[in-house]
Amino acid sequence: MNGKTVSADPGKTLYEALKASGVYLVASCGGKGVCGKCRVRLLEGSAKVEATGKLLKKEIEEKFVLACKTVPEGDLLIEVPEESKLIIGDKIAVSKTKDLLQYLQSVEPELTPAVRRIVLKLDPPSIQDNTGDLERLKAALDAQDIRDMDFSHPFILAMSMALRGAAWDVCLSYTEKHEAIGLSAVCKAHHYGLAVDIGTTTVVVYLVNCADGTLVDSGITYNSQMRYGDDVITRIVYATEGGGLQALRDAIVHDINDLLAPMIERNGIDREDIDSAVVSGNTTMSQLFWGLDPASIREEPYIPTVNYYPVWRAGTSHLKINSQGPVYTMPSVGSYVGGDIVAGVLASKMYKNPEVALFMDIGTNGEIAVGNSDWMMTAACSMGPCFEGSGIRHGMRATEGAIESIRIDPSSFEPSLGVIGDTPPSGICGSGMIDAISELFVAGVIDQKGKLRSDLSTDRIRTGDEGPEFVLHRGERKDIVLAEVDIENVIRAKAALYAGVSVLLKEVGLTLEVVERIYIAGGFGNYLNVDKAIMIGMLPDLPKEKFSFIGNTSIAGAYLCLLSAQMRQEAEEIARKMTYMELSVSRGFMDEYMSALFLPHTDFSLFPTVQALYGK
Ligand code: FES
Repeated sequence: MNGKTVSADPGKTLYEALKASGVYLVASCGGKGVCGKCRVRLLEGSAKVEATGKLLKKEIEEKFVLACKTVPEGDLLIEVPEESKLIIGDKIAVSKTKDLLQYLQSVEPELTPAVRRIVLKLDPPSIQDNTGDLERLKAALDAQDIRDMDFSHPFILAMSMALRGAAWDVCLSYTEKHEAIGLSAVCKAHHYGLAVDIGTTTVVVYLVNCADGTLVDSGITYNSQMRYGDDVITRIVYATEGGGLQALRDAIVHDINDLLAPMIERNGIDREDIDSAVVSGNTTMSQLFWGLDPASIREEPYIPTVNYYPVWRAGTSHLKINSQGPVYTMPSVGSYVGGDIVAGVLASKMYKNPEVALFMDIGTNGEIAVGNSDWMMTAACSMGPCFEGSGIRHGMRATEGAIESIRIDPSSFEPSLGVIGDTPPSGICGSGMIDAISELFVAGVIDQKGKLRSDLSTDRIRTGDEGPEFVLHRGERKDIVLAEVDIENVIRAKAALYAGVSVLLKEVGLTLEVVERIYIAGGFGNYLNVDKAIMIGMLPDLPKEKFSFIGNTSIAGAYLCLLSAQMRQEAEEIARKMTYMELSVSRGFMDEYMSALFLPHTDFSLFPTVQALYGK
């Protein structure tokens, strides 16, 4: 593809071989061969095709295969269609980190990563001066007023050779807790850190220059734990009852290491110079990353093993960076509100303002926080991965080729599509689905329950493999449709989110009117059309100017904490301040959820804008 040559270990699938070489494919089912998203085309050579899953007869004739179920039997020439490529929005990532860096420097002019470095000139030993190496090092530190340094056994094992190799003129790296982690001959101008967002569906890694805060590189891939289940509950069951804890841990650590390997190569960086990391994820993801049994997260009274993680070393985590480097884990609040939400609240800055704000992170789980500089309440609900492009027939992430906006002519029912990158459409992303459902509802193509009307005179409505569907795009190779089951998935997800917000606000005795600002985070936060999200009853019916889209705040918070001691401290304070509400034991949640399983809601008066438009 694009002239790129990759090599494959014998027996590995095409998907694994491409991934190992830094070519990432969409793989919503984690390589189980059931989602049909990882299709590539064999142009030359032979391969063992183990399954063809969702491929159409026409596609099989055209030599399309599922990369996760195809093992090369020699040299192959393949073509990777645009819709199969998993791409991170690099421009978004870079512009966002610039803003964050500016913010950081406004609160803390000096960057304070978890690893500091100091140049020490030691007096060489002699027959007259037989001071031990460690004591000699301590004396040099003493001279710089640093007296409380801890020296681990691994550090001392390597110390003598390092001191002599550097002719007693050394650069000492140490953590903010004053634990010596390494000696080198020179303090290089740059040292690096990793900010990692472990999402239930995707994993994002930022490689950051800790000397100046710049984003050096970034990568994204599907969390390959998905092969053991789409959501956190099935993974907890697999970890505890299926004995899969180690497999789940290995999967996520490999994903991060696999993302990192091509970045290191591209940028000519020495792994040893990556000396710190920050990991942000929901409570289950954080525990699985560290190999901690998540069983108690799922059992009443739903208690995680750790909320505030000790700072363990990279060697313990199996991250392939400097093994002595500290790895900071964003603190969790409870079993279903984790470090990713603490990171989000940190990045949104809502904890610094007196105005009441609502924070919603929309992903496989919907996490909600409400509060201000004095107090904060939080809760989580399960939404399923539909807004991340998974579990939807033609769902995809918000990358090139994704339908992100739709208009439907109310008389002809013909759609006009807005596609990311102005290319022919290859699927539909979360914001596209919200647009589509809203437009279909307003045009009277679906009813309040999301059912397609069969009595309309349009051939856009037809019966497909999974029941009734609406054809959004007629393609040469494949049509792109929104099936009734897809619409039902989205309605269930939006109902869970809206019910969560309602219950949380009721719990604190507030109404929506007092909410001054709403922050929307998540993979599609940049592209969401608020009016349409209100129209389907996903977002509360509040003035548009109150909404802000802040994208992937889990990685943003991890980036801030990677570079700043103050941010790490504030993250801990946020976690302590948040009161966690368990929605699964809330009596009101199921009632609110059932009421929200309609477009926009059974109670139209909660959505005056929609009511006016719909004439109810
Ligand atoms: S079918 Fe290959 S990743 Fe899902």
